[in-house]
Amino acid sequence: MRNRRAALAAIAGAASLALTLTACGQNSSGGSKPKAGDAKGGTIGIAMPTKSSARWISDGNNIVKQLQAKGYKTKLVYGEDDPDTQVSQIENMITQGVKGLIIAAIDNKSLNNVTQEAASAHIPVIAYDRLILGTKNVDYYASFDNEKVGKLQGGYIVHKLGLDAGKKGPFNIELFAGSNDDNNTRYFFKGAMETLQPYIDKKELVVKSGQTALDKVTTLRWDGTTAQKRMEDILTASYKSGRVDAVLSPYDGISIGIISALKSDGYGTKSNPLPVITGQDAEQASVKSIIAGEQTQTVYKDTRQLAKVAVTMVDDVLNGKKPQVNDTKSYDNGTKVVPAFLLQPVSVDKTNYEDALVKSGYYTDADLK
Ligand code: GAL
Repeated sequence: MRNRRAALAAIAGAASLALTLTACGQNSSGGSKPKAGDAKGGTIGIAMPTKSSARWISDGNNIVKQLQAKGYKTKLVYGEDDPDTQVSQIENMITQGVKGLIIAAIDNKSLNNVTQEAASAHIPVIAYDRLILGTKNVDYYASFDNEKVGKLQGGYIVHKLGLDAGKKGPFNIELFAGSNDDNNTRYFFKGAMETLQPYIDKKELVVKSGQTALDKVTTLRWDGTTAQKRMEDILTASYKSGRVDAVLSPYDGISIGIISALKSDGYGTKSNPLPVITGQDAEQASVKSIIAGEQTQTVYKDTRQLAKVAVTMVDDVLNGKKPQVNDTKSYDNGTKVVPAFLLQPVSVDKTNYEDALVKSGYYTDADLK
């Protein structure tokens, strides 16, 4: 009897303890689940990849400005393109008690543990421009239509060379892709190659280096110097005769390296003009290069808009609202399809930079002098 009463009391005790824990939202990892609105005035952690590229500085500043306007405090860190540094920066922010995280990954596969730590502490994670792979602990993805970026680059080359107007070439083209640890790289390359491949198949475009597979053309950490060296090697090995008519470059910083290599090889004069060279991000230096007639095109992605999407997402989640998304199928990170809001990229060259970049207030005319 005594035992039975003790057993019943123990069960009742356990049940009421469970109820109390549920009521205060305790979970198995021990953290208490925040209620909607709890994060008001709290700090949001922002992890950006590098300061070596102007765009990420604008991204960081835009996110900070917009979060502060919503009443949050902010902690902005840059990982200087080192995955380990970025992981420890994020760990520190979790320890410091940030309420939400906005992360542009350096190595998309290196964040499994740290995003698990965030999840255990009930900190929502927004993947910013670059998807975080291999974890369920990424809540939303804010980016652009990345395949479209590639299509705009490839389509620009086809159009500029006149291939779409019936010119047959053959034209020589060389291909560059982004960092192999950035998920966007394969989307950009796929979009570009869908446009270029039919002309390569017809031999109207010729890749003299023979380097056409993605794993042969990537550029670790999007580094301009690495791209410059590869372009120099290609020029030495494959262009003893003939000239380069076009270069597919996925990003402005890579285009700068490619242009340096080409200029050192004698390109950039009236009789030996630079090839058609694409890019991405509409970075200030590259827009100036476009105006000066060196780089030919870039793909503009408004970082003010991207910041707005990410800031709205984190704010909605923290207030118990479901963020607006416009894509729930394209971005499978290997563990789940991450709901995304994708913005539209815009092709920019000498003919439309005023409208696209100056009239929109992204740059002033003086910025581009
Ligand atoms: C990508 C991004 C591009 C470019 C590149 C290098 O992830 O989508 O816009 O910025 O990184 O920084």
